[in-house]
Amino acid sequence: MALTDSIPNNVDLGSDKKLLRALEKWQPNFLAWWKEMGPESFQEDEIYLRTAVSVDPQGWAHYDYVRMPEYRWGIFLVPQEEGRKVGFGDMENESAWQEVPGELRGVLRRLIVTQADTEPASVEQQRQLGKTAPSLYDLRSLFQVNVEEGRHLWAMVHLLHKYFGKDGRDEAEALLERRSGDPDKPRLLNTFNEKTEEWLSFFCFTMFTDRDGKFQLAALSESGFDPLARATKFMLTEESYHLFTGETGIERIIQRTVELMKKDPNEDARDQGGIDLPTIQKWINFWFSSSLDLFGSEVSSNAAEYFASGLKGRYREREKYTDHKALDQYYEIEMPVGTQIVKKTVPLRNAMNEILRDEYIADCERVLRRWNYVIQKAGIRYQLRFPDRKFNRKVGIYANHWFTPEGQLISQEEWQARQGDWLPTPADREYVRSLMVPCYERGKIANWIAPPRQGVNGKPFDWEYVRFHRKSTVFV
Ligand SMILES: [Fe+2]
Ligand SMILES: [Fe+2]
Repeated sequence: MALTDSIPNNVDLGSDKKLLRALEKWQPNFLAWWKEMGPESFQEDEIYLRTAVSVDPQGWAHYDYVRMPEYRWGIFLVPQEEGRKVGFGDMENESAWQEVPGELRGVLRRLIVTQADTEPASVEQQRQLGKTAPSLYDLRSLFQVNVEEGRHLWAMVHLLHKYFGKDGRDEAEALLERRSGDPDKPRLLNTFNEKTEEWLSFFCFTMFTDRDGKFQLAALSESGFDPLARATKFMLTEESYHLFTGETGIERIIQRTVELMKKDPNEDARDQGGIDLPTIQKWINFWFSSSLDLFGSEVSSNAAEYFASGLKGRYREREKYTDHKALDQYYEIEMPVGTQIVKKTVPLRNAMNEILRDEYIADCERVLRRWNYVIQKAGIRYQLRFPDRKFNRKVGIYANHWFTPEGQLISQEEWQARQGDWLPTPADREYVRSLMVPCYERGKIANWIAPPRQGVNGKPFDWEYVRFHRKSTVFV
């Protein structure tokens, strides 16, 4: 099959021979990477998956059974907007760029590569999870997320190949060479080197880390570099399902936990094979704080440069703001100075990472209210919370300082003594891992999580979302 047939696209791939050749060389390497680092043990099975086939909001996806290596990873840009202008920064109102402006080449490449690197990284982090899925519905969700992250990699590699010449091709190869968690060739951002080895972490990842992706993609969808804006806008369409997986996954765990608590009020949820609320809280603390790091430093000259040069805007820049220059304005940040926290004002452009982080936190809080409603409705007095943004940070001005979840500055000794109360301990991880036994019977679900309210694409929960190929699957 010709590449133009095997890659659904709306970028007229067939007409650009050079690009086509570059992608034809990259495709077998991508597939080799997928087979080596994609979901382990399920490559022969037929999964009921959604595939993007156009950008038509009414019917952009097609659902059918697919073996993952045969998934059709496509390249889609949303339609070009006639007369689109750069929406912010020093070059506001100039025509949006259809080619890479020479002076922005290095910065833009770095932005695209950083985004691109997260896509294969998450597939690598999640590659063992299929073996312990709590239901067929969840197994399918995992693989849906995985193949779409693969498509996001294609979307970014398309930009690298088309607009960055040899450098772009080299970067595209390097994206297949780095490995999540490998000390010699790690993925670029730390959260993408963390282990995601059980399903509570998977749901936290899709809730918190994919949501960082949502905000990064949204900021890039404002970009003056038009092909990047159009590619990331379409990626957001798929991303919303990933977030849904995380939000509802944790909600379903909470639902099951409160059911167990009510069933036998004398017993802890753990004694009944569930995940108790304080354990869920620890996972939230870990993934929320780790994902906050992904926004970068609170005060950042890189962020100022991205904004000034029109490459990366604020969240919903054109809709939410009237002044798109962001000059002569300031932003207040809490800075640790010695043993104190002092408020300092910084130029707004230098605070762009923090502004995006604010949007992210507000979005997370919306979900948190829904989770707490599940607990409250069950008549249980307990509230899940997000730690303060200063808690457990490895990047930015709070790194190398120690804070309680309430945001109180403490000594390193106190942190060491108390961190086990706030973050997962080896014993907690061991316990959660011990619950992870696969449940692949149609309509059945593991004990620690409630079934979803609905199935996928109008199908019921007990639909056969995965058809196992005998030889490949030792679990059924
Ligand atoms: Fe993605
Ligand atoms: Fe995602």
